[in-house]
Amino acid sequence: MSDGAVKDAPDGEGEGGATNSRRYFLIQATSAVAAVGAVGAAWPFIKYWTPSAKAKAAGAAVKIDVSKLAPGEMLSPIVAWRGKPIFVVYRDQAVIDSLEVDTNGLADPDSANPDQQPEFAVNPWRSERPELGVYVGICTHLGCSPKYVESENFEETGQGGFFCPCHGSKFDLAGRVVEGVPAPYNLEVPPYQFESDTVIVIG
Ligand code: FES
Repeated sequence: MSDGAVKDAPDGEGEGGATNSRRYFLIQATSAVAAVGAVGAAWPFIKYWTPSAKAKAAGAAVKIDVSKLAPGEMLSPIVAWRGKPIFVVYRDQAVIDSLEVDTNGLADPDSANPDQQPEFAVNPWRSERPELGVYVGICTHLGCSPKYVESENFEETGQGGFFCPCHGSKFDLAGRVVEGVPAPYNLEVPPYQFESDTVIVIG
């Protein structure tokens, strides 16, 4: 006589059949326990491979509402993307025009360095729309955060821009670095797109 597990086994007849069936049952049970153990052992690695919510958030796209930004202003408070400050400036028409012609004294006026901006920002404004400039607010010298200079003119460019207080680097209102300062490159332009007229998605 045999129980339900034995009945389901492949060799289920007679004394020898019962022995084989018990062996079959034990093999199946052992395999199941081993499988559970393998999953348990792998769990820390699976957890390790799966990015945490915090890590996902750190690389996530960021939306910036610029509906309240007026010409001549930089967005405040400054929004962070991937731990980096993002500068958003609203340029008036006079600045837009000057960025096209006032290129004397700039180290890379044509954004020739391909690492510093996406293709769409290779233009005099280094931006998708001439009036709105979007830049990573980190000096390309040693990583300080430059200050927005709205009203003070830089003698090199004849306009405002960004001034780095650490070692004196200057960038114009398109984030283009002036010649002869420690910073070697223009400010970085992050990848971004317009979700609407007044909302920019960074990343
Ligand atoms: S970190 Fe900006 S000039 Fe040195």
